[in-house]
Amino acid sequence: MLSGIPLFPEQASTLAPEVDNLYFFVTAVTAFFALLVVVFVVIFAIKYRDPTGERVGAPITGSIPLELGWSIIPFFISMVMFGWATVVFFNIVRAPDQTLEIYSTGKQWMWRFQHIEGQSEINELHVPIGRPVKVIFTSEDVLHALYIPVFRVKADAIPGRYSSIWFTPTRVGEYHLFCAEYCGTKHSGMIGRVVVMEPNDYQAWLSGGGGLSMQARGEQLFQQLGCASCHLPDGMGRGPSLAGKYGAQETLANGATANVDDTYIRESVLTPQMRLVAGYQPVMPTFQGQVNEEGLMSLIEYIKSLPSTGQRAAAQAAAPGPAAPGGPR
Ligand code: CUA
Repeated sequence: MLSGIPLFPEQASTLAPEVDNLYFFVTAVTAFFALLVVVFVVIFAIKYRDPTGERVGAPITGSIPLELGWSIIPFFISMVMFGWATVVFFNIVRAPDQTLEIYSTGKQWMWRFQHIEGQSEINELHVPIGRPVKVIFTSEDVLHALYIPVFRVKADAIPGRYSSIWFTPTRVGEYHLFCAEYCGTKHSGMIGRVVVMEPNDYQAWLSGGGGLSMQARGEQLFQQLGCASCHLPDGMGRGPSLAGKYGAQETLANGATANVDDTYIRESVLTPQMRLVAGYQPVMPTFQGQVNEEGLMSLIEYIKSLPSTGQRAAAQAAAPGPAAPGGPR
Protein backbone atom coordinates (compact mmCIF):
# COMPACT_ATOMS: atom_id res chain seq x y z
CA MET A 1 0.00 0.00 0.00
CA LEU A 2 2.77 2.41 0.95
CA SER A 3 5.45 1.37 -1.49
CA GLY A 4 4.67 4.35 -3.71
CA ILE A 5 5.23 6.86 -0.93
CA PRO A 6 8.95 7.33 -0.29
CA LEU A 7 8.14 8.95 3.05
CA PHE A 8 7.55 5.58 4.66
CA PRO A 9 9.90 2.63 5.04
CA GLU A 10 8.83 -0.66 3.50
CA GLN A 11 6.66 -2.99 5.52
CA ALA A 12 8.76 -6.09 6.08
CA SER A 13 7.29 -7.66 9.20
CA THR A 14 3.89 -8.79 10.40
CA LEU A 15 3.90 -5.90 12.88
CA ALA A 16 4.51 -3.24 10.24
CA PRO A 17 0.97 -3.05 8.78
CA GLU A 18 -0.52 -3.02 12.29
CA VAL A 19 1.65 -0.08 13.32
CA ASP A 20 1.06 1.79 10.07
CA ASN A 21 -2.73 1.34 10.08
CA LEU A 22 -2.94 2.78 13.57
CA TYR A 23 -0.61 5.59 12.61
CA PHE A 24 -2.73 6.45 9.58
CA PHE A 25 -5.93 6.36 11.59
CA VAL A 26 -4.54 8.79 14.17
CA THR A 27 -3.13 11.02 11.44
CA ALA A 28 -6.40 10.96 9.46
CA VAL A 29 -8.53 11.87 12.48
CA THR A 30 -6.15 14.67 13.44
CA ALA A 31 -5.97 15.99 9.89
CA PHE A 32 -9.77 15.86 9.50
CA PHE A 33 -10.44 17.98 12.57
CA ALA A 34 -7.57 20.37 11.87
CA LEU A 35 -8.92 20.89 8.36
CA LEU A 36 -12.48 21.26 9.65
CA VAL A 37 -11.40 24.13 11.92
CA VAL A 38 -9.43 25.84 9.15
CA VAL A 39 -12.33 25.54 6.70
CA PHE A 40 -14.79 27.11 9.15
CA VAL A 41 -12.35 29.89 10.02
CA VAL A 42 -12.12 30.76 6.34
CA ILE A 43 -15.89 30.47 5.72
CA PHE A 44 -16.78 32.61 8.72
CA ALA A 45 -14.09 35.14 7.92
CA ILE A 46 -15.69 35.64 4.51
CA LYS A 47 -19.31 35.39 5.61
CA TYR A 48 -19.04 37.79 8.52
CA ARG A 49 -16.51 40.16 7.05
CA ASP A 50 -17.36 43.75 7.84
CA PRO A 51 -15.75 46.33 5.58
CA THR A 52 -17.43 49.18 7.51
CA GLY A 53 -16.11 48.00 10.90
CA GLU A 54 -19.36 49.09 12.55
CA ARG A 55 -21.34 45.87 12.98
CA VAL A 56 -21.57 44.40 16.47
CA GLY A 57 -21.95 40.64 16.95
CA ALA A 58 -24.95 39.12 18.75
CA PRO A 59 -24.17 37.93 22.31
CA ILE A 60 -23.61 34.15 22.66
CA THR A 61 -25.19 32.48 25.71
CA GLY A 62 -23.93 28.94 25.23
CA SER A 63 -25.49 25.66 24.13
CA ILE A 64 -25.57 22.57 26.31
CA PRO A 65 -26.15 20.07 23.42
CA LEU A 66 -23.27 21.58 21.45
CA GLU A 67 -20.89 21.45 24.41
CA LEU A 68 -21.88 17.87 25.24
CA GLY A 69 -21.38 16.94 21.60
CA TRP A 70 -17.89 18.31 21.29
CA SER A 71 -16.90 16.69 24.58
CA ILE A 72 -18.44 13.26 24.13
CA ILE A 73 -17.62 12.62 20.46
CA PRO A 74 -13.87 13.33 20.86
CA PHE A 75 -13.91 11.21 24.02
CA PHE A 76 -15.12 8.18 22.12
CA ILE A 77 -12.74 8.80 19.23
CA SER A 78 -9.79 8.99 21.62
CA MET A 79 -10.98 5.80 23.35
CA VAL A 80 -10.93 4.03 19.98
CA MET A 81 -7.32 5.22 19.52
CA PHE A 82 -6.45 4.10 23.04
CA GLY A 83 -7.99 0.65 22.67
CA TRP A 84 -6.51 0.05 19.25
CA ALA A 85 -3.07 1.28 20.35
CA THR A 86 -3.19 -0.98 23.41
CA VAL A 87 -3.77 -4.03 21.22
CA VAL A 88 -0.90 -3.06 18.89
CA PHE A 89 1.36 -2.32 21.86
CA PHE A 90 0.77 -5.74 23.38
CA ASN A 91 1.48 -7.38 20.04
CA ILE A 92 4.77 -5.50 19.87
CA VAL A 93 5.98 -6.24 23.38
CA ARG A 94 4.75 -9.81 23.76
CA ALA A 95 6.72 -12.25 21.70
CA PRO A 96 5.05 -15.53 20.74
CA ASP A 97 6.17 -18.63 22.64
CA GLN A 98 8.14 -20.23 19.85
CA THR A 99 10.76 -17.75 18.69
CA LEU A 100 14.17 -17.97 17.18
CA GLU A 101 16.32 -16.27 19.80
CA ILE A 102 19.32 -14.16 18.89
CA TYR A 103 21.41 -12.35 21.48
CA SER A 104 22.96 -8.96 20.93
CA THR A 105 25.14 -6.44 22.69
CA GLY A 106 25.47 -2.80 21.79
CA LYS A 107 28.60 -0.85 22.58
CA GLN A 108 30.32 2.29 21.37
CA TRP A 109 29.90 2.04 18.41
CA MET A 110 28.68 -1.25 17.09
CA TRP A 111 26.09 -3.99 17.38
CA ARG A 112 27.23 -7.54 17.87
CA PHE A 113 24.77 -10.33 17.19
CA GLN A 114 25.22 -13.81 18.57
CA HIS A 115 23.24 -16.70 17.14
CA ILE A 116 22.60 -19.59 19.49
CA GLU A 117 24.17 -22.03 17.02
CA GLY A 118 27.50 -20.20 17.31
CA GLN A 119 27.60 -17.72 14.45
CA SER A 120 28.31 -14.17 15.47
CA GLU A 121 28.30 -11.05 13.37
CA ILE A 122 28.93 -7.33 13.72
CA ASN A 123 26.56 -4.67 12.40
CA GLU A 124 24.79 -7.35 10.39
CA LEU A 125 21.86 -9.47 11.37
CA HIS A 126 20.82 -12.47 9.30
CA VAL A 127 17.31 -13.77 9.93
CA PRO A 128 15.00 -16.22 8.15
CA ILE A 129 11.73 -15.12 6.59
CA GLY A 130 8.40 -16.19 8.04
CA ARG A 131 9.61 -17.16 11.48
CA PRO A 132 9.22 -15.12 14.68
CA VAL A 133 12.62 -13.86 15.76
CA LYS A 134 13.37 -12.45 19.20
CA VAL A 135 16.48 -10.36 19.72
CA ILE A 136 17.54 -10.17 23.36
CA PHE A 137 20.07 -7.44 23.98
CA THR A 138 21.87 -5.22 26.43
CA SER A 139 24.54 -2.55 26.36
CA GLU A 140 28.12 -2.84 27.49
CA ASP A 141 28.57 0.88 28.11
CA VAL A 142 25.97 3.60 27.57
CA LEU A 143 22.38 3.80 26.38
CA HIS A 144 21.82 2.70 22.80
CA ALA A 145 18.62 1.73 20.99
CA LEU A 146 18.16 -1.01 18.45
CA TYR A 147 15.94 0.22 15.66
CA ILE A 148 14.83 -1.63 12.50
CA PRO A 149 12.42 0.68 10.67
CA VAL A 150 11.07 -1.85 8.12
CA PHE A 151 9.99 -4.12 10.98
CA ARG A 152 8.65 -1.14 12.99
CA VAL A 153 10.52 -2.22 16.09
CA LYS A 154 12.75 -0.22 18.41
CA ALA A 155 13.91 -0.64 21.99
CA ASP A 156 16.58 0.84 24.22
CA ALA A 157 19.72 -1.12 25.05
CA ILE A 158 20.29 -0.41 28.73
CA PRO A 159 23.49 -1.32 30.60
CA GLY A 160 22.77 -4.01 33.18
CA ARG A 161 19.38 -4.92 31.82
CA TYR A 162 17.98 -7.12 29.05
CA SER A 163 15.66 -5.66 26.45
CA SER A 164 14.07 -7.49 23.58
CA ILE A 165 12.35 -6.91 20.30
CA TRP A 166 10.55 -9.49 18.21
CA PHE A 167 9.37 -9.58 14.61
CA THR A 168 8.36 -12.02 11.88
CA PRO A 169 10.04 -10.94 8.63
CA THR A 170 7.67 -11.07 5.66
CA ARG A 171 9.97 -10.00 2.86
CA VAL A 172 13.37 -11.19 1.71
CA GLY A 173 15.90 -8.40 1.34
CA GLU A 174 18.44 -6.14 3.00
CA TYR A 175 17.27 -3.42 5.31
CA HIS A 176 18.69 -0.69 7.52
CA LEU A 177 19.43 -1.16 11.19
CA PHE A 178 20.16 1.84 13.37
CA CYS A 179 21.17 2.96 16.82
CA ALA A 180 18.37 5.32 17.78
CA GLU A 181 19.77 6.79 20.98
CA TYR A 182 22.51 9.37 20.99
CA CYS A 183 25.49 7.50 22.40
CA GLY A 184 28.59 9.56 21.67
CA THR A 185 30.80 10.79 18.85
CA LYS A 186 30.13 8.02 16.39
CA HIS A 187 26.47 7.44 17.16
CA SER A 188 25.62 8.23 13.54
CA GLY A 189 27.98 5.46 12.43
CA MET A 190 26.40 2.84 14.67
CA ILE A 191 24.40 1.42 11.80
CA GLY A 192 24.13 -1.87 10.03
CA ARG A 193 21.92 -4.04 7.92
CA VAL A 194 19.40 -6.77 8.44
CA VAL A 195 19.44 -9.55 5.87
CA VAL A 196 16.19 -11.47 5.57
CA MET A 197 16.79 -14.82 3.90
CA GLU A 198 14.82 -17.83 2.74
CA PRO A 199 14.89 -20.51 5.47
CA ASN A 200 17.21 -22.77 3.45
CA ASP A 201 19.64 -19.93 2.74
CA TYR A 202 19.57 -19.04 6.41
CA GLN A 203 20.43 -22.60 7.44
CA ALA A 204 23.27 -22.62 4.92
CA TRP A 205 24.52 -19.29 6.24
CA LEU A 206 24.31 -20.55 9.85
CA SER A 207 26.37 -23.63 9.12
CA GLY A 208 29.08 -21.61 7.37
CA GLY A 209 31.50 -21.49 10.27
CA GLY A 210 30.91 -19.97 13.68
CA GLY A 211 32.59 -22.28 16.15
CA LEU A 212 31.00 -23.34 19.39
CA SER A 213 27.30 -22.96 20.07
CA MET A 214 26.35 -20.58 22.85
CA GLN A 215 25.30 -23.54 24.93
CA ALA A 216 28.73 -25.18 24.57
CA ARG A 217 30.46 -21.90 25.32
CA GLY A 218 28.27 -21.47 28.37
CA GLU A 219 29.16 -24.95 29.54
CA GLN A 220 32.88 -24.14 29.18
CA LEU A 221 32.46 -20.98 31.24
CA PHE A 222 30.44 -22.90 33.81
CA GLN A 223 33.44 -25.17 34.30
CA GLN A 224 36.15 -22.48 34.01
CA LEU A 225 34.55 -20.13 36.51
CA GLY A 226 34.05 -22.98 38.93
CA CYS A 227 30.24 -22.79 38.95
CA ALA A 228 30.10 -26.55 38.52
CA SER A 229 31.84 -27.25 41.83
CA CYS A 230 29.00 -25.77 43.90
CA HIS A 231 25.92 -26.03 41.64
CA LEU A 232 25.80 -29.83 41.56
CA PRO A 233 22.97 -31.25 39.46
CA ASP A 234 21.66 -33.38 42.35
CA GLY A 235 21.19 -30.32 44.59
CA MET A 236 23.70 -31.56 47.21
CA GLY A 237 26.25 -28.82 46.51
CA ARG A 238 26.86 -25.54 48.30
CA GLY A 239 24.63 -23.80 45.79
CA PRO A 240 21.25 -24.83 44.42
CA SER A 241 21.08 -27.20 41.48
CA LEU A 242 20.36 -25.36 38.26
CA ALA A 243 18.95 -28.39 36.46
CA GLY A 244 15.53 -27.64 34.98
CA LYS A 245 15.38 -24.32 36.83
CA TYR A 246 15.03 -22.02 33.84
CA GLY A 247 11.49 -20.70 33.68
CA ALA A 248 10.67 -22.11 37.12
CA GLN A 249 10.03 -20.24 40.36
CA GLU A 250 12.53 -20.20 43.18
CA THR A 251 11.74 -19.43 46.82
CA LEU A 252 14.16 -16.88 48.22
CA ALA A 253 15.80 -16.56 51.62
CA ASN A 254 13.63 -13.54 52.41
CA GLY A 255 10.45 -15.53 51.71
CA ALA A 256 9.72 -13.92 48.34
CA THR A 257 9.73 -15.83 45.08
CA ALA A 258 11.67 -15.15 41.90
CA ASN A 259 11.11 -16.20 38.32
CA VAL A 260 14.26 -17.82 37.02
CA ASP A 261 14.65 -15.85 33.81
CA ASP A 262 17.50 -14.14 31.97
CA THR A 263 17.47 -11.17 34.31
CA TYR A 264 17.52 -13.30 37.46
CA ILE A 265 20.41 -15.45 36.22
CA ARG A 266 22.43 -12.39 35.17
CA GLU A 267 21.84 -10.79 38.57
CA SER A 268 22.70 -14.00 40.42
CA VAL A 269 26.08 -14.21 38.70
CA LEU A 270 26.99 -10.56 39.26
CA THR A 271 25.30 -9.85 42.62
CA PRO A 272 24.62 -13.28 44.13
CA GLN A 273 23.41 -12.00 47.53
CA MET A 274 20.72 -9.81 46.02
CA ARG A 275 18.08 -12.54 45.71
CA LEU A 276 19.48 -15.55 47.50
CA VAL A 277 17.69 -18.88 47.19
CA ALA A 278 16.18 -20.11 50.48
CA GLY A 279 18.18 -22.78 52.31
CA TYR A 280 21.63 -21.71 51.05
CA GLN A 281 24.41 -19.69 52.67
CA PRO A 282 25.49 -16.39 51.09
CA VAL A 283 28.86 -17.85 50.12
CA MET A 284 28.89 -17.22 46.38
CA PRO A 285 31.36 -14.53 45.29
CA THR A 286 30.48 -12.01 42.64
CA PHE A 287 31.66 -12.69 39.12
CA GLN A 288 31.57 -9.03 38.18
CA GLY A 289 34.51 -8.32 35.88
CA GLN A 290 35.21 -12.01 35.24
CA VAL A 291 32.52 -12.60 32.68
CA ASN A 292 31.37 -10.20 29.98
CA GLU A 293 27.86 -9.66 28.64
CA GLU A 294 28.27 -12.31 25.97
CA GLY A 295 29.61 -14.77 28.50
CA LEU A 296 26.54 -14.11 30.63
CA MET A 297 24.28 -14.75 27.66
CA SER A 298 26.10 -18.02 26.96
CA LEU A 299 25.73 -19.04 30.60
CA ILE A 300 22.00 -18.32 30.35
CA GLU A 301 21.75 -20.46 27.21
CA TYR A 302 23.60 -23.26 28.99
CA ILE A 303 21.39 -23.08 32.08
CA LYS A 304 18.31 -23.03 29.82
CA SER A 305 19.51 -26.26 28.24
CA LEU A 306 19.91 -28.12 31.54
CA PRO A 307 17.13 -30.66 31.89
CA SER A 308 15.68 -31.46 35.27
CA THR A 309 16.84 -34.84 36.49
CA GLY A 310 13.45 -36.38 35.77
CA GLN A 311 13.40 -34.94 32.26
CA ARG A 312 16.90 -36.18 31.59
CA ALA A 313 15.99 -39.75 32.50
CA ALA A 314 12.91 -39.54 30.29
CA ALA A 315 14.89 -38.08 27.40
CA GLN A 316 17.51 -40.80 27.66
CA ALA A 317 14.85 -43.48 27.73
CA ALA A 318 12.98 -41.99 24.75
CA ALA A 319 15.80 -41.26 22.37
CA PRO A 320 19.54 -41.91 22.31
CA GLY A 321 21.77 -38.90 21.84
CA PRO A 322 21.40 -35.39 23.27
CA ALA A 323 18.47 -33.16 22.46
CA ALA A 324 19.07 -30.75 19.60
CA PRO A 325 20.63 -27.58 21.00
CA GLY A 326 19.21 -24.20 20.22
CA GLY A 327 15.73 -25.41 19.40
CA PRO A 328 12.74 -23.36 20.44
CA ARG A 329 12.10 -23.81 24.06
CU1 CUA B 1 24.64 3.64 19.97
CU2 CUA B 1 23.66 5.68 19.28
